[in-house]
Amino acid sequence: MEKRKTKIRHYTSFAQDYDGAFSSDLNYCRWSANSIVNLLELKKDDFLVDLGGGTGFFSSLIHKKSGLDKRVLCVDTCEKMLEKADMYDNVFTMCDSASSFSGKDELKYDKIFIKEAVHHFENRIDIFSQIYGQLGCHGIICIVTRPQTPGFPLFKSALKSFEQSQPDYNVFITELEKAGFDVKVHKKAYPFKIKKNRWFELLKQKFMSNLAQFSDIEIDNGLKELEEYYHDSDFFFFDDILIYITGYKTD
Ligand SMILES: C[S@@+](CC[C@H](N)C(=O)[O-])C[C@H]1O[C@@H](n2cnc3c(N)ncnc32)[C@H](O)[C@@H]1O
Repeated sequence: MEKRKTKIRHYTSFAQDYDGAFSSDLNYCRWSANSIVNLLELKKDDFLVDLGGGTGFFSSLIHKKSGLDKRVLCVDTCEKMLEKADMYDNVFTMCDSASSFSGKDELKYDKIFIKEAVHHFENRIDIFSQIYGQLGCHGIICIVTRPQTPGFPLFKSALKSFEQSQPDYNVFITELEKAGFDVKVHKKAYPFKIKKNRWFELLKQKFMSNLAQFSDIEIDNGLKELEEYYHDSDFFFFDDILIYITGYKTD
């Protein structure tokens, strides 16, 4: 319960600036959204859910890209994140946790995606099994996650905490299979370029949830460590590796 509150607190404090972090590179967002549109095989009349959808930025973008008739349902535990999602005409919201949402048997939809949120969920096999039941015939789930060692520059202790907060993606595959899905995996890399100052600002803001556990002094020391290592460049270039895991309902 305490862990859950800490996460909600983190996303509440960061909600205002969330879309300015990674989503500020529109090409990156379009690239990632396109992958989700294609992997979900979205059709005009599909009802789509974005679980752990946060500010709804991707719910809205994916709606536009795929020309869906119905609005996307963006579900999240954090009200402040959802306040942003509520601003989009093509999105509607539900403030709920993944486990409570998936427990609603009467809810039916065609496709669902969970982008960079699945590592926060507990009792995932139960959640995936219930999602299997909610999905219509030939429903598809798409999970977007990262490897335990990300491509982006982090100081050593932040890398370690990222790894601890992020299960190996093979765990999600096994869990989806246990829930009844046929599973496929695609790894994709986006060549990211960001000004070093901007990256440092984001780290100072503790924009990733695993950074919330660090004190301001620990972050400052971490930035010094990075500065020593990358002293000769004003930009960071790295491959952001995203892992797309799709689960197909077979009956
Ligand atoms: C890293 S953000 C990703 C947001 C969005 N999917 C995106 O890619 O921009 C993770 C989101 O998961 C939400 N979250 C965390 N635990 C959750 C849970 N148990 N059920 C539903 N949402 C949850 C957080 O509130 C946050 O908005």
